[in-house]
Amino acid sequence: MHIPTALLSILLHGATQASPIQPRQQPTPSPPSPFPIHFSCNITLRHQLSSALEETVQLAQQAKSHLLLHGLESPLVQKYFGNYSTAAPIGWYDRIISAERGDMLFRCDDPDQNCATQDGWAGHWRGTNATQETVICPLSFQPGKRRHLDAVCGWGHTVTESPLNEFWAVDLLHRILHVPRISEDVVGHFADGYEGVLELAVTEPEKAGKDSEALQLFALEVWSVEVSVPGVGCLGGKAEVTQTVSTVPTPTPTPVADAAEACHTHADGVMHCE
Ligand SMILES: *[C@@H]1O[C@H](CO)[C@@H](O)[C@H](O)[C@H]1NC(C)=O
Ligand SMILES: *[C@@H]1O[C@H](CO)[C@@H](O)[C@H](O)[C@H]1NC(C)=O
Ligand SMILES: *[C@@H]1O[C@H](CO)[C@@H](O)[C@H](O)[C@H]1NC(C)=O
Repeated sequence: MHIPTALLSILLHGATQASPIQPRQQPTPSPPSPFPIHFSCNITLRHQLSSALEETVQLAQQAKSHLLLHGLESPLVQKYFGNYSTAAPIGWYDRIISAERGDMLFRCDDPDQNCATQDGWAGHWRGTNATQETVICPLSFQPGKRRHLDAVCGWGHTVTESPLNEFWAVDLLHRILHVPRISEDVVGHFADGYEGVLELAVTEPEKAGKDSEALQLFALEVWSVEVSVPGVGCLGGKAEVTQTVSTVPTPTPTPVADAAEACHTHADGVMHCE
């Protein structure tokens, strides 16, 4: 059947010439804003720190993409976050990637004299002295102290046996999660170590998605498997723990939000006040 063009137009668009529907304005996604760095960091320290912070955002982006793409079907997601919901870890990684930085600040001077007086400290959260501020001590900048993500799985590194803060991006992920501007006083330390984190995913998965160490370990393992050694990664000698996780004794959870004054010191002297 032949329909004249004019009639076809009426059939399709209506008899009156309606004004075309204006496309709704799309929200413009805001690019990740850089983390503010204090003037006490000179030009070269600033280069080093901003490059490490950019890596931290890349690390968080890789982790978030894995969570969005694979969801709870991913064995890695199940291992670190249990079967509860991926929304929490996606949200925390996203806050690291793109939350408004506000008054949070990284500084290179030593206002609390901890770099000068505490042996081996590579940095610290200023806690009640300035809750949005993080001091990065000279040690962090020294050659060979913190490695870049291109070395993950290299030079003997494994996800479970090497210190998490061997990589500056993971160290900074941890430090950023102490800053309430990003963590909203919700992210905390509920488990300690790889075994503790796996146990938390089974026993209290609702806490795993806001556990600082789970967020660090998951991001590092995703990076190792998807970027460093694709499909293989470098989990290391504690890999067999996954099979025996249910027999691991429950660690005592460390609540953080209500202990504003308490500080803990990590193995290499990284202090975090909660
Ligand atoms: C910045 O400070 C560090 C540490 O004091 C120093 O080693 C470096 O040479 C300084 N950079 C410049 C350009 O002065
Ligand atoms: C999550 O659920 C799957 C399927 O029921 C199960 O095989 C897996 O062990 C569960 N993982 C955890 C950490 O509970
Ligand atoms: C806060 O400042 C006081 C006084 O300078 C200092 O003793 C304390 O260690 C500081 N707290 C932190 C977390 O650095």
